[in-house]
Amino acid sequence: MKKENALWWQKGIIYQIYPRSFMDSSGNGVGDLAGVRQRLDYIESLGVEAIWFSPINPSPMKDFGYDVSDYVDVHELYGGMPAFQALLDDAHRRGLKVVIDLVPNHSSDQHAWFQESRSSRDNPKRDWYIWRDPAPDGGPPNNWLSFFGGPAWTFDAHTGQYYLHQFVPEQPELNYRNPAVRQAMLDVMDFWMKLGVDGFRVDVIWLMMKDPDLRDNPLNPEWDGVNPHSKFIHQYTANLPEVHDLIQDMRGVLDRYPERMMVGEIYLPNQELMKYYGNDDECHLPFNFQLIHYPWNAQAYRRAVDQYEADLPAGAWPNWVLGNHDQHRFATRLGVENARTAQMMLLTLRGTPTCYYGDELGMTDGHIPPEFVQDPPAVKQPEIAHIVGRDPERTPMQWNAGPNAGFSPAGVQTWLPVNDNHATVNVEDESKDPKSFLNFFKALAHLRRSEDALCVGSYQSVDAGDDDIFAYLRRAEDGTTFLVVLNFSSRIITLDLGEIARTAEIAVSTDMVSSGTVKLGALIMAEHQGLLLRL
Ligand code: GLC
Repeated sequence: MKKENALWWQKGIIYQIYPRSFMDSSGNGVGDLAGVRQRLDYIESLGVEAIWFSPINPSPMKDFGYDVSDYVDVHELYGGMPAFQALLDDAHRRGLKVVIDLVPNHSSDQHAWFQESRSSRDNPKRDWYIWRDPAPDGGPPNNWLSFFGGPAWTFDAHTGQYYLHQFVPEQPELNYRNPAVRQAMLDVMDFWMKLGVDGFRVDVIWLMMKDPDLRDNPLNPEWDGVNPHSKFIHQYTANLPEVHDLIQDMRGVLDRYPERMMVGEIYLPNQELMKYYGNDDECHLPFNFQLIHYPWNAQAYRRAVDQYEADLPAGAWPNWVLGNHDQHRFATRLGVENARTAQMMLLTLRGTPTCYYGDELGMTDGHIPPEFVQDPPAVKQPEIAHIVGRDPERTPMQWNAGPNAGFSPAGVQTWLPVNDNHATVNVEDESKDPKSFLNFFKALAHLRRSEDALCVGSYQSVDAGDDDIFAYLRRAEDGTTFLVVLNFSSRIITLDLGEIARTAEIAVSTDMVSSGTVKLGALIMAEHQGLLLRL
């Protein structure tokens, strides 16, 4: 493929913004859309194609926006619809696409639909949610558990039944076996398409259908005893075959508009994940999260990437993710010393990378003192908060070394504490340092944008002759080729890659210092180094 034939969501980087944490323009300690708008120069300078916003809808914030109380409006906290419209227009004027989060699996319990549904057993919206009688002993109807701890059922004394929620009790699940619910959500999608958003990131799309008979989930024989939710195989609550038909309906809405995109949140192994491309009639991109789960091991990564490439259906476009608002930051997970190598990999693999705000600075997980812990799974399960809690990866964006990192005005209490390392890890200082993580990110992103080989070229991994090295070629149709060599270890390694070519030019090095011509027959890789070489 050539760049000019690629669609925007194939060739560009998607930049994820967690709206509460990006830029606080109103001075209340929480980010807002006018704040994002002030920072569009910065976003544009990164060389990304699209912004994805975690939910901006009105919400009681029991799950920080993933509990939506009105699907066709924007939260006042973020500036309401006028702020979004202004931001959308500005972004589009700059050629930036805007993707919004759609959270169809569950609404807030404060949504008018649920208020009606819970008002009586014979309310016309009763069947919009999943209600069941108690088990004979008065307990929940079955053994389904919430991802956030405890049963997935809450008893509603007023009507004497339980309702289903796989997250907090304030997130009741909608019933997509009811055609009226389906139509209502398709109408929501159409509303945003008409408004001009370029696509949706669909929350927990693989959970949208559940077993109509509510059968118990079977025990997971491989449970490691840590997170109670993993004690069961989610056979009857996730990845039901009927979900594909629903997703095809959703895709149908997008296909009525030009160049719109749907990326689905799906945590499944390849074999199942690939089904979510459908026959090019489901998700344009089913999120590929596998790199998040591997230990930092060059051969494990190589196998994973090769396997994913091999498993992709014909014509399906790949994508890669290293971080998001649900995962500890990759600079923390993989080690700060490996963060640049990981970043180089993310931006040079074949397929669309999604980059989480602040990762381009090398931001790490923040320290969250007990009085600040607010993420529901961490509050509910303090004993495993360090594993399941997501506050650490949601700390405010680090704009400068000043008070509150320039996110909120001095003296304001930010909703989550600012990470202490903002003294050095911040936009202002990194912008001035030619060797910074930020300038490294930009060098990669801009080269990726300008080179067919990196943007849309083929991928082929290479036997580098050392287990700590992951290396691959990216080649454009015109033959232009780049070689990526990543040292996953703290050893200095000399490689013989002379069979590929005699010499190559360093295009980008993780140290942002090395340059010039290297001999591939005796290529010296410093510890934790990554090299992007032009053949
Ligand atoms: C998704 C979101 C997560 C949220 C959950 C419930 O996994 O990414 O942040 O808590 O869905 O909506």
